[in-house]
Amino acid sequence: MAKKKLQRFAEMKAFDCVFEPENDVMTGGDFHMKGRWHSDYFGNRNPITLELGCGKGEYTIALAGMYPKRNFIGIDIKGARLWRGAKTVDQSGMDNVAFLRMKVEFISNFFAPGEVQDIWLTFSDPQILDHKGTKRLSAQSFLDRYAKILARDGNIHVKTDSNFLYDATLKAIEKGAHKLLTHSNDIYGSGFSDFTLAQREILGVRTFYEGKFLAKKENINYIHFQLNEQAHQT
Ligand SMILES: C[S@@+](CC[C@H](N)C(=O)[O-])C[C@H]1O[C@@H](n2cnc3c(N)ncnc32)[C@H](O)[C@@H]1O
Repeated sequence: MAKKKLQRFAEMKAFDCVFEPENDVMTGGDFHMKGRWHSDYFGNRNPITLELGCGKGEYTIALAGMYPKRNFIGIDIKGARLWRGAKTVDQSGMDNVAFLRMKVEFISNFFAPGEVQDIWLTFSDPQILDHKGTKRLSAQSFLDRYAKILARDGNIHVKTDSNFLYDATLKAIEKGAHKLLTHSNDIYGSGFSDFTLAQREILGVRTFYEGKFLAKKENINYIHFQLNEQAHQT
C-alpha cells in the first residue's frame, strides 16, 4: 500500500472524531455507542443529523458550521475518503461532528430508536441495476432501516445528479405512502425560486461529486420527505 495511504489510515485511528468498527463488530449486533451518542460523544441533547455515503464529508462539515447547536455524523465505508473530512474536523476543533466508517446496511446496530433527527443522502450511487432494492440507499429496504432510528418527525433529504435516483426515490415514497414535503428536479434552475433563503443556503453546499456533475452542466435534484407513521412501528 502507498506510504501516504498507510499514513492516513494510521491518522484515522488517532482522530477523536472517527469511529471505525472492525467488520465483525459492524455486523455483530449493537455497537457500544448505540443510544449513547448524545451522552458519550457530543455531551449535549442537540439533534443528530446523519449524512449517509458522505465521501469526504462536505455536507456534514458545512452543515455543522451553519448549525453549531446541532450534531452531525458522516458515514461512509471508504476510509480514504472519510480521512479528508476527519482531518478538517481535527484541525478546526469542531465539537459537533463525528465520522463513522461502516456500511449503511448495518445502521440499526449503531443508533437507537429515535436517536436520529435528519438523514441526508448526498449524491448516492443510483444503483440502476439494483432491481431488488438491496443496494440503493433510498430503496424501501433502506427506508425500513431508517425508520428504526429516526425520530417520528424526522426528515430525509436526497440530493442527487441522477434523474434515475430522483424518480426511483419518488416512486418509493409514493409506494410506501410516505410524506413528500418538497421536490425539485432542477434546484439551481427552475426550482430555485421555490426555496426559502435558508433552504437555498443549505442546498448551495457543493460536494466533491456535485462539483463534477455541475461542471458537466447536469441538473441537480432534491427531495425532502418524512416516513409515514406506520413505518416507525414495524
Ligand atoms: C458517489 S459517492 C458520493 C460522496 C459524497 N456524498 C459526495 O457527494 O461527494 C457515494 C459514496 O457512498 C459510499 N457508499 C455507497 N454505498 C454505501 C454503503 N452501503 N454504506 C456506506 N457507504 C456507502 C461510497 O463509498 C461513496 O463514498
